[in-house]
Amino acid sequence: MAFCATALVGLLAANAPDPETLSPRTNYMLHCQGCHLADGSGRKGKVPDMRGELGRIAQLPGGRDYIGRVPGVANAQLTDAQLARVLNWLIPEMTPEIAATFAPYSASEVGHLRRNRLQEVRAVRQRLLTQDRGKPLQTQ
Ligand code: HEC
Repeated sequence: MAFCATALVGLLAANAPDPETLSPRTNYMLHCQGCHLADGSGRKGKVPDMRGELGRIAQLPGGRDYIGRVPGVANAQLTDAQLARVLNWLIPEMTPEIAATFAPYSASEVGHLRRNRLQEVRAVRQRLLTQDRGKPLQTQ
């Protein structure tokens, strides 16, 4: 799957489409789905299941920042604007019940977050989901 996605990206890169013109769903397919799978279910023990969870994370203190700083997001070969559109589509898609209250990311917010990419991702994620919910995430 990861290989297919990589091959597809290579194929499309050869035809030089402009990612700005692709829909967020298509960019998710090209840049994220190789690991996260089409439905966001991920891979047990390796890639977290985002279904029903992502909106919850987005609403935790520090969670919104965490989402913009995980390596898969921060390192994506997308512009800040395109990445913001992917997240603004993905989060309500994974957790429809938060769609009404979710405040979309701006390109500049995403740009700021992704430039502060997380290093100790698993530890930060664990802390985020269990304790210290009131504390801001550590910077690298
Ligand atoms: C190479 C595999 C891979 C790719 C590609 C990838 N991710 Fe991830 N993603 C992960 C893993 C693994 C995690 C869990 C945190 C960690 O260990 O980095 C994660 C975590 C996340 C999270 C936080 C969810 C949580 O429960 O912690 C979000 C949101 C996310 N990814 C979105 C994306 C988006 C959007 C893209 C595409 C732009 C993307 N990812 C590309 C592997 C990937």
